Amino acid sequence: MNLILLGPPGAGKGTQAKRLEDACNLVQLSTGDMLRAAVESESEIGQQAKSIMERGELVSDAIMIAMIRDRIQEVDCLNGFILDGFPRTTAQAEALDNMLADMNANLNHVIEMKVEDAILVDRISGRFSCSNCGAGYHDTFQKPVVENVCDNCGSTEFSRRKDDNAETVALRLEAYHAQTAPLLPYYDAQGRLTRVDGMAGIDEVTRQIMSIIETGSWLT
Ligand code: AP5
Repeated sequence: MNLILLGPPGAGKGTQAKRLEDACNLVQLSTGDMLRAAVESESEIGQQAKSIMERGELVSDAIMIAMIRDRIQEVDCLNGFILDGFPRTTAQAEALDNMLADMNANLNHVIEMKVEDAILVDRISGRFSCSNCGAGYHDTFQKPVVENVCDNCGSTEFSRRKDDNAETVALRLEAYHAQTAPLLPYYDAQGRLTRVDGMAGIDEVTRQIMSIIETGSWLT
């Protein structure tokens, strides 16, 4: 099974993708994480992407399409993957359709996580993650069980993303509405789009997504 989680910055794509990885034996493909790893390693792509990401703009379609084309052919993707952060433009969506057709693979679900813009700034400004294993947390909505200790690996080192500041979030939201939101009618026309209430609590959003995966829609 292959699926896309589509939604604005802070909608909860990464949070839900990590849960689905375990529940459904799928691989999370986060283009944001891939780019941050490239920046960290100072690779050529990382050097090109760094300032673009810090400005809250989108990295070029050519780079992103090549990155995903290589990644989805790796053996761990055979059972299926969750795209988190890709596609973000119509060109990326069309390229993905072609890649999947070449691989005789299907896109089973595109799940829109709908959240009002005003909520997103709070979510993003409170976000932090474990520096060791990447587990995601929030100052209010998703605290570690023991303060300053990662639930997943026990590390006490945490970090915050450079682009998680109010000014950049506003620009990332602008990019979402201008360049990514047009993918909603694109996938709706293909009959693949289902919406969940991304404003609900984290467990409830997981329940709605699992319901879509199991039955094709979510039950209130
Ligand atoms: P990327 O890393 O993809 O960032 P994003 O899309 O802005 O999404 P986020 O990671 O900020 O949010 P999320 O939806 O995953 O939310 P999360 O689960 O963490 O991209 C970063 C940059 O890379 C882009 O700006 C761009 O420059 C570049 N890039 C990446 N892909 C690209 C592409 N395809 N093309 C071009 N450029 C690309 O949740 C947020 C917080 O809220 C967390 O603290 C969480 O605990 C909390 N939370 C989650 N769900 C809930 C809930 N239901 N209730 C309460 N709190 C919640």
